[in-house]
Amino acid sequence: MHRALGTENSVINPAFEDIPQIAAEMKSVEYELIRIIGESEDLIRQLLTDLFCSGKRLRPKLVLLSGLCFSHANEKMLYSAVAAELIHTASLIHDDIIDRAHYRRNKYTINFICGNHTAVLAGDFLFARAFEILSKKNLIKSMEYLVKAIQDMCTGEIIQANDLFNTNVSEKEYFDKINRKTASLISACCKAGAESGGAPETDVELLGLFGRYVGYAFQIMDDILDVTGDKKEMGKPVAHDIEEGNITLPFIYLLQEERYSIKYLDVLCDKNLIAGAKDEIIQELHKSGSLTKAYNMAVFFVNKAKEVIEPIPDSVYKDILLALSDEVIKRTH
Ligand code: IPE
Ligand code: IPE
Ligand code: MG
Ligand code: MG
Repeated sequence: MHRALGTENSVINPAFEDIPQIAAEMKSVEYELIRIIGESEDLIRQLLTDLFCSGKRLRPKLVLLSGLCFSHANEKMLYSAVAAELIHTASLIHDDIIDRAHYRRNKYTINFICGNHTAVLAGDFLFARAFEILSKKNLIKSMEYLVKAIQDMCTGEIIQANDLFNTNVSEKEYFDKINRKTASLISACCKAGAESGGAPETDVELLGLFGRYVGYAFQIMDDILDVTGDKKEMGKPVAHDIEEGNITLPFIYLLQEERYSIKYLDVLCDKNLIAGAKDEIIQELHKSGSLTKAYNMAVFFVNKAKEVIEPIPDSVYKDILLALSDEVIKRTH
């Protein structure tokens, strides 16, 4: 496991060093990702190399930390972490097609540069590579968790597509959607890690629940940062959700107040929302307290996440998981 995979000469994403206690393992994950991309056909390699140079690597970190709570690092954890990042990146490529996004990880997206056709196939390629690893390494349980998460991500994105410009969308419907599109994969990562570390079934389930709550908080923060974040720091477009008709939690809270719904219901249904109106609504999100309300919801989920892993054995890795869940609500990118 500590064997450095891949090639030392390739550009490595500095995120592997974020958590010193798992830097060695994360370095192995990075080298394996570099090797996989590096070995791909020329065209695929050119399309994917830039994308893998950055990204926070939250999912592989969660796989490893969840596993290390129960045993020393092993190959099952490493390869599950690699597969998780491949699947996540595939889902981002497809998500950018769906959201018509031109920018991701501070680079132009594949759909923007080469069109949707190529981007669909680049995403599919990464899914296929992930399953090659999971099957070759016989990671049956990790595969089971990750496959289920992909199904959830697909249904989550379909629900979102059906609800675009639907200003009647409820808080409950929003939570159902983010559970599927984001929390499921993060939950699967924690379960795959714990199972790879030999955790008992009950602890695998607890880690799964931890990941689910972290995932809720993570997507709520992403939706807040879409309106409050900085494009350069985020590496992706900001104020993009309302343009695309994606009514996220801060907007749901705004519309719950009659004085705002009277004023903005029609504007938010309008597919040709003018830039001026967009800025005004964003100001109102701040003034009305809707952003704070959404933020408090993210805090609520992080607290639930931390509570749920109380019964698992104490370790430095459990402490890092607790700290990482706090980071989710402090993040600026
Ligand atoms: C973006 O995920 C998609 C969401 C679930 C909000 P990340 O914010 O983890 O993206 P990278 O991997 O760091 O680029
Ligand atoms: C998360 O939703 C997408 C996935 C789960 C793949 P978003 O559409 O908000 O993610 P970003 O903002 O494009 O990263
Ligand atoms: Mg998107
Ligand atoms: Mg977003």
